[in-house]
Amino acid sequence: MSYVLGLDLGTGSLKGLLMTKDGTIVATQFAEYPLITPQAGYSEQNPLEWLKAAEKVIQMIVKEIPDAATGIKGISFSGQMHSLVLLNKKNEVLRNAILWNDVRTTEQCREITETLKEDLISITKNRALEGFTLPKLLWVKEKEPEIWQQVEHFLLPKDYLGYWLTGNQQMEYSDAAGTLLLDVEEKCWSKKIVDAFDIEERICPRLVYSTDCIGAVREELLERLGLQGEIKVFAGGADNACAAVGAGIVKEGVGLASIGTSGVFLSYEETGDKQYDGDLHYFNHVAKDAYYSMGVTLAAGHSLTWYKNTFAKNETYDELLEGVTNIPVGSMELYFTPYIVGERTPHADSKVRGSFIGIDINHTRDHFTRSVLEGITFSLKDSQILMEEKAGKSFKKIISVGGGAKNKEWLQIQADIFDATIVTMGTEQGPAMGAAMLAAVGIGWFADLKECAAEVVTYKEEIHAIPENVEKYKHSYKKYREIYPATKNFFQ
Ligand code: XUL
Repeated sequence: MSYVLGLDLGTGSLKGLLMTKDGTIVATQFAEYPLITPQAGYSEQNPLEWLKAAEKVIQMIVKEIPDAATGIKGISFSGQMHSLVLLNKKNEVLRNAILWNDVRTTEQCREITETLKEDLISITKNRALEGFTLPKLLWVKEKEPEIWQQVEHFLLPKDYLGYWLTGNQQMEYSDAAGTLLLDVEEKCWSKKIVDAFDIEERICPRLVYSTDCIGAVREELLERLGLQGEIKVFAGGADNACAAVGAGIVKEGVGLASIGTSGVFLSYEETGDKQYDGDLHYFNHVAKDAYYSMGVTLAAGHSLTWYKNTFAKNETYDELLEGVTNIPVGSMELYFTPYIVGERTPHADSKVRGSFIGIDINHTRDHFTRSVLEGITFSLKDSQILMEEKAGKSFKKIISVGGGAKNKEWLQIQADIFDATIVTMGTEQGPAMGAAMLAAVGIGWFADLKECAAEVVTYKEEIHAIPENVEKYKHSYKKYREIYPATKNFFQ
């Protein structure tokens, strides 16, 4: 049997997914690695831990499916975005990787914004946020000059994994776009930006497409991993782009609402010339020459987890959410804003915090619970509205994945708030599925990702909006939108 292997290098673990040509998921395996938090706001990882995890995952997959040893024909990746890996002349890791959720770089973000002015958005399509890569490069340059002097190359996590597997270094466009060094429309490193910050362009890796072959698994690794033969490796993509492809979003008009720890509302974009003015993330896609726009709610599922741990520690999620069906749409004017760790979209504001507003003597715990689900969904609606207002988009269908797809009532809330048909996945595999699909296209099983998605992605259920609820939520959403401007100064 022939297989492709998708490796998703996440923030907490690495997931491997083995897939056949007809989309059957034959095996999945995980291996975890630690997060290093030397001080508040810092978030790092040792890249060598990723390699150990990849080795373990591949070995476990081969143990589970012995004919994968000779059957794997292609490997590709998905990876946490933006996280900085620095290498010296000998290609040794110079320091721990500084991760996407590290927020030490506020000062560098200000410097980037002030230096590049309108060039920042016109070249990179994005605002300077602490999570992105260029602020991290500038931080190392300023705070750790002895390390900076030795920097020969920089990579992102999944590209480091690709280098380990093949011996070749490169970066593909979907991840390069999250560095703030890429000219997103021209698809090249921006000379203007590297010059502005005195970064030598030679440290930027060569650029490739996500389905480009970057080499084969190195001979000396094959035996250690339990593999045989020539196994081609393909460049891969950013986790959000891979998640979208894995959910079958390969054309405009269908949105993705992903509620994990953070929440993402994402849309496929045929072109890179929309004017989002940095209000949304706007990156190159893993689909050749396509783009995607995306809004991020920093604490989506995280808000519900916090709420459960604080107020219903000994209950399961099912028990906690059981009562929300009996609560009327809009939770009787009780509102929750999910800004418990600050926010990214639409309010790029690290100081704002969450709130319950409108507490009334008649509210019960179930009203609070429902208002949390509604508040998280309103926050994603903010991104949907930006896409509709700034680019004239409309979403008749939205694929729901993550925690938000696990509860029937929450799915109905999404349909009613987004005013769209919500679709759930047949088997939800996240970004690893997109990574396997990139390998499937890379080895030539399919002409492109559209053809691949049609064959391998399956859906389960459709939840339709209830017109009466849609109208009620229009009122609630309008009120929700008033909360941020009314409370913003309180948190500064
Ligand atoms: C996207 C972002 C996160 C990471 C998580 O801009 O920072 O979604 O990609 O891995």
